[in-house]
Amino acid sequence: RRIAVLISGSGSNLQALIDAQNTPALPNARIVAVVSNRKAAYGLTRALQANPPIPTAYLGLQPYLKADPSRTRQDYDREIARIVINEKPDLVVLAGWMHIMSEAFLDIVSGEKQLEGAEKVTRPIPVINLHPALPGAFDGAHAIERVYEAFQKGEITHSGAMVHRVIKEVDRGAPVMVKEVEMIAGEPIEAFEERLHKTEWELIVQATAKVLDEIAALEGQHS
Ligand code: GRF
Repeated sequence: RRIAVLISGSGSNLQALIDAQNTPALPNARIVAVVSNRKAAYGLTRALQANPPIPTAYLGLQPYLKADPSRTRQDYDREIARIVINEKPDLVVLAGWMHIMSEAFLDIVSGEKQLEGAEKVTRPIPVINLHPALPGAFDGAHAIERVYEAFQKGEITHSGAMVHRVIKEVDRGAPVMVKEVEMIAGEPIEAFEERLHKTEWELIVQATAKVLDEIAALEGQHS
């Protein structure tokens, strides 16, 4: 199974997937591409240092737009989709991708719209996203800080992380897997975040394995 991973930052969740490749945790799965919107994303280094190295691509939004003022955000998302579908992935994983995925990207990855000059998408490629909060609350950016603040105000008693399907409504896709994380009174945010990230590293691997199993089951029905 071919996995494309989109990142923007340190790539610790990407690293969890790299380390799980072809182990019982993530059998017969291979990361075929790592795409980043930030040149400095350490995740790009992790991909190149993997054994075997994983092909990487970088496409920054601002440089792309500055190169031709007639370009739009949708054009950018279509270019990201082009890079992704040309690797013929079975699954796209957003592991700390800091952009909202626009319809333009999803239309192409789902095969609804074909991109001229790109690989043909013959069946929808599922897209999943890792989010450091539980379903239904704390959507969007800076979720960890907002969760921590809510805990301090006594508004919540625990938190967690989820992997959900990516659909056109932001952070509204069905959860694939959720892991709860207890919150401890008086614990500094750094310590909470460390426990949360450790939980994410398990979650991202298990959720990816689960979706790959679902894909295989679906294909089994169709073949
Ligand atoms: C994770 O906490 C993820 O939930 C959020 O961004 C962070 C990515 O961390 N979307 P890393 O780049 O995988 O280390």
